[in-house]
Amino acid sequence: MAEGYQQNSKWQRNGGKRFVQNEVAPYLSNDILDLGCGTGELSAYLAELVGPKGRVLAVDPDKDRIRVAQESHKEVENLTFAEGSTSSFPGLGLETYNVIFSNFVLHWVKTIEEKEKAFQNMFRSLKPTGKIFVRYGDRLPINFDRVFRELNPENMDRLLNLFEHETRPVIEKFDFSTRPFSLLIIMTNKMAEGYQQNSRWQRNGGKLFVQNEVEPYLSNDILDLGCGTGELSAYLAKLAGPKGRVLAVDPDKERIRVAKESYKEVENLTFAVGSTSSFPGLGLETYNVIFSNFVLHWIKNIEDKKKAFENMFRSLKPTGKIFVRYGDRMPTHFDRVFRELNPENLDRLMSINQFEPRPVIEQICLAAGFRVLNSFDEKFEDRVFENGESLCLFFWATTNGVFDPQFVTEDRMERFCARYSSGGNGRIKLRSEENDLCSVLVAEKPADLNW
Ligand SMILES: C[S@@+](CC[C@H](N)C(=O)[O-])C[C@H]1O[C@@H](n2cnc3c(N)ncnc32)[C@H](O)[C@@H]1O
Repeated sequence: MAEGYQQNSKWQRNGGKRFVQNEVAPYLSNDILDLGCGTGELSAYLAELVGPKGRVLAVDPDKDRIRVAQESHKEVENLTFAEGSTSSFPGLGLETYNVIFSNFVLHWVKTIEEKEKAFQNMFRSLKPTGKIFVRYGDRLPINFDRVFRELNPENMDRLLNLFEHETRPVIEKFDFSTRPFSLLIIMTNKMAEGYQQNSRWQRNGGKLFVQNEVEPYLSNDILDLGCGTGELSAYLAKLAGPKGRVLAVDPDKERIRVAKESYKEVENLTFAVGSTSSFPGLGLETYNVIFSNFVLHWIKNIEDKKKAFENMFRSLKPTGKIFVRYGDRMPTHFDRVFRELNPENLDRLMSINQFEPRPVIEQICLAAGFRVLNSFDEKFEDRVFENGESLCLFFWATTNGVFDPQFVTEDRMERFCARYSSGGNGRIKLRSEENDLCSVLVAEKPADLNW
């Protein structure tokens, strides 16, 4: 049977090869898993494309197909076959793979629960920034249906039961990025975790900001607007103590998921998906304090920034205060990292943030009705990354994947570190320059609105 399958399924491989060429080839490196490899033709193609810099492990639950695969491709040095499936394969749960590839397998996985499990297993077995490339049928092809009906009506029920075509709802439930085709490519990653783990330095300045400016005013209802993975929200909650409650919102669902998981034991802290244009209590004079650290420059245009200030104003109690820390210019080391390590994506990287000078932000704040209590620049902190990978992970995560670690060759990283880093022990320390400043704004909603 396995030989029959190998010899008569060549057409199936043409589409598979195109899929590999178009989508997978640029990402092939190091450890690659082919999940459900059949008789191994595409596994051998992956091994050929990756060359000596990578290894392919290919698994299939069908012993006979694995036997044929081993015989057929025994001379391919960087390719190994083993029995295995989406529920059991070498390296499962160990963050082993850079790429997991799976061609026409998912619709063979029987139940929705098992499909969910398959995605969880792939996720747990990928290195951070690892990717999956999954091609599958989300419906029975008409020609299969015709063959079954016309040539094998006796076995129709069993034939139709072979496949489970409910993959798309599973994927949508998982909220991986999808494409609206019946053949989907899903690239998944652990972006929110990458952000949390590699942006610690960003919190030092944030904590000082909280201690110096915000702490004396922490009471009752506090909103953290654009909380990311929630580290500063938890700090606010701790300082406020039982007399205060913090609601923390971010538009990034994944960051909110990680925040909830990380701080579930903090009783006076709640996380929700939201943004400057939509959050619980908007317009209801709910909050005593609205806190927002490094969010303003993510708001796309000046009209939306104005709206953000108006929304904060309408949601504060009278005498309530906002504490806003923001970038009013591109920090030098961001500029250097983008130019030197990702010139291919420079235009897109440069247009991610919209920086406005401090006087413009003050003007917007006043126009919304606030009384400005304090507005000043402070020195940007140095940034220290454990190593090159940590630097790449941070920039990849903070730019939502526009900064692409694939372009950061060893050469580029070495040149970059030689010029700009002063770290020891493999650490990368990016020193801030004299003019690397960020801005702080503290403002109050007047008790008497006719002030
Ligand atoms: C640099 S992070 C800062 C996160 C957190 N405040 C901290 O200091 O750790 C910026 C955050 O702003 C969020 N963001 C972007 N646009 C936003 C908007 N319109 N309203 C609220 N948050 C927004 C992003 O999803 C991101 O998590």
